[in-house]
Amino acid sequence: MTLLSDVPRLASADLDAYWMPFTANRQFKSAPRMFVKAEGMYYTTDDGRQVLDGFAGLWCCNAGHCRPGIVAAIQAQAAEMDYAPSFQMGHPLAFRLANRIVELAPGKLDHVFFCNSGSEAVDSALKIALAWQRVRGEGARTRLIGRERGYHGVGFGGISVGGIAANRKMFGTLLAGVDHLPHTHVLEKNAYSRGQPEWGAHLADELERLVTLHDASTIAAVIVEPLAGSTGVLVPPRGYLQRLREITRKHGILLIFDEVITAFGRMGTNFAADLYGVEPDMITFAKGVTSGTVPMGGVIVSSDIYRAFMGGPPGAIELFHGYTYSAHPLACAAGIAALDLYRDEDLFARAARMAPKLEAALHGLKGTRHVVDIRNHGMVGAVELAARAGAPGARGFETYLECFEAGVLVRQTGDIIALAPAFIVEDAQIDRIASTLRDVLSRIE
Ligand SMILES: Cc1ncc(COP(=O)(O)O)c(C=O)c1O
Repeated sequence: MTLLSDVPRLASADLDAYWMPFTANRQFKSAPRMFVKAEGMYYTTDDGRQVLDGFAGLWCCNAGHCRPGIVAAIQAQAAEMDYAPSFQMGHPLAFRLANRIVELAPGKLDHVFFCNSGSEAVDSALKIALAWQRVRGEGARTRLIGRERGYHGVGFGGISVGGIAANRKMFGTLLAGVDHLPHTHVLEKNAYSRGQPEWGAHLADELERLVTLHDASTIAAVIVEPLAGSTGVLVPPRGYLQRLREITRKHGILLIFDEVITAFGRMGTNFAADLYGVEPDMITFAKGVTSGTVPMGGVIVSSDIYRAFMGGPPGAIELFHGYTYSAHPLACAAGIAALDLYRDEDLFARAARMAPKLEAALHGLKGTRHVVDIRNHGMVGAVELAARAGAPGARGFETYLECFEAGVLVRQTGDIIALAPAFIVEDAQIDRIASTLRDVLSRIE
């Protein structure tokens, strides 16, 4: 067996074939950054350096890396049954994992549809929303509402309801009949908020305006990230999500929370829906369900939605949707093992306990050169930098590269540095993340 850490370092000619996602390919290939091993809070690079992971990989390895219980479950499952078809066949792990997820899910959310990523989860949720409106006799409700600065993955559904121009502008006309709410982050109003900003709940009333414009009878669903992560950590203003819930309920519009980042403890609770006290009609999840070890995503729906589909002839397929790898046995084994680990080590409670530490460390950077905002909630934080004149994103990217050189992995989006460590992070590691950022920001232009 060849281990990644034993493979000789790649020559530059070996780097050409792989077209890397969401990456500056030419920059990367001129100065590659390669990880070959991971354990706990650390990665090892191909030149043998330890890098502290301040970002749980990519918002996903919530329990830390290569935890033995999860590794053993994946290995055992690969040897026992590698794959089973999920159309018209089943395997017990899929049902067990669905039951475990439902036990954690809020209120009436009690059925799980599996797929393989956050993007697929979003497209599945949007399709279920449209189909549900149709099966209940409201087939004219085809409009979907997202939000500016929303990130819902990269499928055509996700980029249509998403609100990041760079992810949309190259890809044609996208889905018809989509509109967007305004985003909630206005620096002049809510900079340096600790937790939920006080200002901004009224922005949910923009949904009433869209309902007046389009008429409720044309709107199927509203999708938002309860806390928007990928666009630079936008924490929902106090009362905002409650207001969205009231308005969607009043008008028969489904509310979908995209919890691909926030589900499974990231906010110190099972789901962000729990922390914010708002129950949506559907939750999308991915990443943390397997602690990032095997790709998996899914949608949790309320029993009202599930039951509405179960009215036809018993032998008929109720929803013409699914993936070859829906509920893949390796992903299910990894998911059950991850949920076991979260429970056995009480990791969501640990995330809640460590969140004030992360908040204090990050807000301690106020006044550091280039910093214009710091925000956080749960085990998520962001430090926003002033953009360099004429070069938006350049200062953020340089900060990211310099942090990596200093042995700390952060995430950069434009001029925002985001942090989301695994829940096993220690006080001293949080301090190191913050002090590395301070050092880097004080020396870069
Ligand atoms: C809220 C949200 N939705 C969807 C996605 C897409 O997930 P994936 O990259 O697994 O397709 C992400 C990824 O970060 C996300 O943050």
